[in-house]
Amino acid sequence: MQFNSHFNDIAQSYLFSTVAQKVAAYSAANPGSSILRLGIGDVTLPLAPAVIQALHAAVDDMSKKETFHGYGPEQGYDFLKESIRGYYKSNGVELENDEIFVSDGAKSDIGNILDIFAGENTVLVPDPVYPVYVDTNVMAGRRVMYMNATAKNGFLPMPDDSVGADIIYLCSPNNPTGAAYTVAQIKEWVYYANKSGAVILYDAAYECFITQEGLARSIFQVEGAKTCAIEFCSFSKTAGFTGTRCGYTVVPKALTRGGMSANKMWLRRQTTKFNGVPYIVQRGAAAVFTAEGQRQIGENIAYYRKNAKMIADCMDELGIWYTGGKNSPYIWLRCPGGMSSWQFFDYLLQNVQVVGTPGAGFGANGEGFFRLTAFGSNEVTQEAVQRIKGLLSK
Ligand code: MLT
Repeated sequence: MQFNSHFNDIAQSYLFSTVAQKVAAYSAANPGSSILRLGIGDVTLPLAPAVIQALHAAVDDMSKKETFHGYGPEQGYDFLKESIRGYYKSNGVELENDEIFVSDGAKSDIGNILDIFAGENTVLVPDPVYPVYVDTNVMAGRRVMYMNATAKNGFLPMPDDSVGADIIYLCSPNNPTGAAYTVAQIKEWVYYANKSGAVILYDAAYECFITQEGLARSIFQVEGAKTCAIEFCSFSKTAGFTGTRCGYTVVPKALTRGGMSANKMWLRRQTTKFNGVPYIVQRGAAAVFTAEGQRQIGENIAYYRKNAKMIADCMDELGIWYTGGKNSPYIWLRCPGGMSSWQFFDYLLQNVQVVGTPGAGFGANGEGFFRLTAFGSNEVTQEAVQRIKGLLSK
């Protein structure tokens, strides 16, 4: 027997686990210290009232013989897929119900989707990058290539004909940099993928933070994307489901290679390895798309935007270069004083007990950068920016 030796090729611990361990060690050594967490992008507001109401009603359904639900369809209930379809339609995208697969979150699907790809496929990711794209492929032994995302290209790398890859990851609005592609830029990616035969895995988890006209909310807003892309989305950031767990993946029927259908393979994969998201959770998720649900989650997103502005204003005041925060909940800043990103992490933790995420954890191009999230409470964010200002304006 042998274990999968590719695990030797990834970091010992997942980025956010490493950060959590360091914070726990600091906390144990400094009991009673008030630590402000702007590291992992975890929401802090409770679920919207419309969602809570739907969850309660669904719990009651489970208490009665006539409305009890056992195993559901692995790919999600029609009532939720219908709502998701309606949402896409409002963005000008027509989908069929069986192109939508409900899951327990985008992160799981982003990892699981690799089951339908050949092991020898090569992978192209931006650097910096959400570590899940890299780690899941390295675990499977795939070769990963990087494209530079730097201040020079606005952290939005564009296709390069000299680089051939089979699987391309795009995340827009981007985690960690907050940069977002325009529809026109996504058109270039779609053209490139269709020409080369590559498949784009498009992570749209932060779509709800887009404010600017002309930015892509879905890759399927671009004609031709259905023959080259799979899209992942989630209720985590949109509606505060980080602890409730629900997301969805769109696998178009038109996406085929070598006579094989991605949609059919993903259905086969999900029906074999997944028993679906709980009925109760799917009822809660469907409530997000009601008029009341949309209004309420809109208020929550506005609340987080206020935090992003507070952090951005603080950086402006300190003269620290940053990007993001406008169409994204993340502020990506250059570490002051030439500090490395882990040095700056320690500096903030030790001196003002503020936790962020070191850019180096997202790849080589992240060195010297740092990510702060807008998902804290208004009060914690306010306090964190005060502490950061106090420390860095000295
Ligand atoms: C992050 O902080 O990058 C996200 O919370 C990670 C995730 O969504 O899995």
